Amino acid sequence: MKHLLTMNDLSIEEIMGLLSDAEQFAKGETWRPKRNYYISNLFFEPSTRTKSSFEMAERKLGLEIIPFEAHTSSVLKGETLYDTVRTLESIGVDSVVIRHTEDNYFAKLIQSGVYLSIMNAGDGCGHHPTQCLLDLLTIKQEFGQFSGLKVAIVGDIRHSRVARSNAETLRRLGAEVVFSGPENWANIKGSGIAYEPIDTAVETADVFMLLRIQHERHSAGMPLTKEEYLAQFGLTLERESRMKQKCIIMHPAPVNRGVEIEDALVECERSRIFKQMENGVFARMAALKNSIEHKEGAGLNETMYTK
Ligand code: CP
Repeated sequence: MKHLLTMNDLSIEEIMGLLSDAEQFAKGETWRPKRNYYISNLFFEPSTRTKSSFEMAERKLGLEIIPFEAHTSSVLKGETLYDTVRTLESIGVDSVVIRHTEDNYFAKLIQSGVYLSIMNAGDGCGHHPTQCLLDLLTIKQEFGQFSGLKVAIVGDIRHSRVARSNAETLRRLGAEVVFSGPENWANIKGSGIAYEPIDTAVETADVFMLLRIQHERHSAGMPLTKEEYLAQFGLTLERESRMKQKCIIMHPAPVNRGVEIEDALVECERSRIFKQMENGVFARMAALKNSIEHKEGAGLNETMYTK
């Protein structure tokens, strides 16, 4: 794969190959590109985990990072995303990692024929493929497979690129997926995914995947207080006590402690929340390796000027 834009672009074989590479990286395997490889991380939305773990993955692979900060770049003078990417490409950057507020921002870049590789680090409410890969890795480490598992995705589903990427991919891999939380937030149009009240989902799921309430994407504001949300739709200690024995708790983070999940459960025995973050580095190393190998294999091992 040259670009990683959405999980739908990957076949099951490609997904399993990426997970296998990520597992090897988790065991300490190393890999290096055949030549100096230049990469830039373009974050137009806040990020802690994705930005820093991409950077850690890049350093572990020996890539040369060309720093870019949107708030000190010519984006502030009105330069478009396309011109920003073309500029980086012109100076010899091979690959860009982009997080952007706009759904599907990458379509215009791909249509206009940018030469460098794009790693989507999250587009609006669209997709978050590397979060999906790290979540799959975490589930695979736990259960060894996806088929036969029931995964409950719980919370602000409508605004969540994580929910979209994970729900579609987990179903392709044979898992049963249900949505839970506020019913009017669980309506991803045409998804065909069943809704379950939280008190059913909590007792039947193997993986209980909570989502952050995305306040920044709610124009009408929150109809409930934090305490009301936790009581009605959050993971409380009482609900946790009714989970299946081997059920794990996941959350892409950042976590609104005491809202989606009771503070004491964030690092409880069932929680894999910090494990997910650890796995983010390995999943991103696998994605970068695959993209670089594609270029190397396709004879695209030189800069854009050799096209
Ligand atoms: N999970 C995730 O994408 O976190 P960040 O927004 O901190 O990158």
